[in-house]
Amino acid sequence: MKVGIIGSGGREHALCDSLKKSKKVKKIYCFPGNAGTKQIAENIEIDLSNFENLKNFTIDKKIDFLIVGPERPLVDGIVDYLEKYNIKVFGPNKFSSQLEGSKIFTKKLCQNFNIPTAKFGIFFNVEDAEKFLKKCKYPIVIKADGLAAGKGVYISETNHQAKIAIKEIFNGKFGEAKQLLIEEFLNGEEMSFFIISDGKNYKQFGTAQDHKRVLEGDKGKNTGGMGAYSPSRLENKNLNKKIIDKIIEPTLRALKEGNSTFKGFLYAGLMITKGEPFLIEYNVRMGDPECQTLLPKLKTDFGLLIKACIEENLKNTSIEWHNDKSLCIVMCSKGYPDKYKNNVELNLNNLKLGKSEFLFHAGTKLIDGKTYSNGGRVLNIVVRSNFFKSARDKALSLLTKLNWENGFYRKDIGHKVVDQ
Ligand code: AMP
Ligand code: GLY
Repeated sequence: MKVGIIGSGGREHALCDSLKKSKKVKKIYCFPGNAGTKQIAENIEIDLSNFENLKNFTIDKKIDFLIVGPERPLVDGIVDYLEKYNIKVFGPNKFSSQLEGSKIFTKKLCQNFNIPTAKFGIFFNVEDAEKFLKKCKYPIVIKADGLAAGKGVYISETNHQAKIAIKEIFNGKFGEAKQLLIEEFLNGEEMSFFIISDGKNYKQFGTAQDHKRVLEGDKGKNTGGMGAYSPSRLENKNLNKKIIDKIIEPTLRALKEGNSTFKGFLYAGLMITKGEPFLIEYNVRMGDPECQTLLPKLKTDFGLLIKACIEENLKNTSIEWHNDKSLCIVMCSKGYPDKYKNNVELNLNNLKLGKSEFLFHAGTKLIDGKTYSNGGRVLNIVVRSNFFKSARDKALSLLTKLNWENGFYRKDIGHKVVDQ
């Protein structure tokens, strides 16, 4: 089979690596990929907002199916566009992608289908939002509606901070804003919960714990994710059943009532409060770095699994996992998530990986055989082990060997499962 992967991050390198191990995958294209994918696939420089170019390339090269990594093309309707030309794509259509593309769409869906989530209000102007603040207890959560790369969420401790958030959103900091959300702050522990679906049937696809804040101790600014581990320490049969019954099933029912289906990975960002799951957000794709930490645990042939989804045959495919733990540490460019330098050379020659150790590139590029940084999140080191502690110790020792002077990383990834 020939497979194409859309995207260029650590998630896409991990997807590529799993496909490469498939006995049926003969050729992989990455649009546009990174220095890591270039070693196992053919990277194709293409403007991802130009669906027509991608369609022509896919037809020309007779690619069997495409996997969409990031949310932007999904929310923009890439699946609907390509399916019109009979191209097979693993990812949700534009309607279902609203689960991630519009927080207000998801909140209304939760309301209509009784899905547990934080109490909320929708506001169309500064005045009404500020009036509402007078009745609020702090902290309070204020969110821009559309995609904002994880940045459109404010957790405001005071009325003053909340007013600034409201103004920034309505002033267009995250794109034109006709409305915003004000939400109750949920206390608890977060968990990333995944399913894989072929549009007709779905299966659970593991759990993970992300670390979104830039500094150790979960302090500082929000990032795309500084590291993750799998499984989440919260996972158990009883909680899984609650998540499926109260959140996943009603969501899929709601999409069906909207005459849609969900094909692809669905990622529920949850807050677990006193053993009860609440939906914080949906993502219509794998998480990054959750994907990097989850996929190395997959025993099942990933290429055949996605093929089964494309053929609507997931029901007859079993998904098997390695039973051990997995932990991923992300190495970033100094300055991330604010300003950082690009084009700084990386020397990867000292990195000798063992059997359960993985290096996934994110913001990197290859020029004349040399690897350079090309983004805020640069590399992911993933280690599988029987214990989270040994996985983290090993990942940290690999990062020390790497010794990249422009890099930094959190040394406390997994603190809830390692240090307590
Ligand atoms: P989101 O982009 O909606 O996932 O929000 C980003 C992060 O903000 C989440 O991962 C949570 O850590 C935090 N967050 C969002 N909404 C809430 C909430 N209602 N209560 C507490 N924390 C929240
Ligand atoms: N790890 C967070 C995300 O992928 O959105």
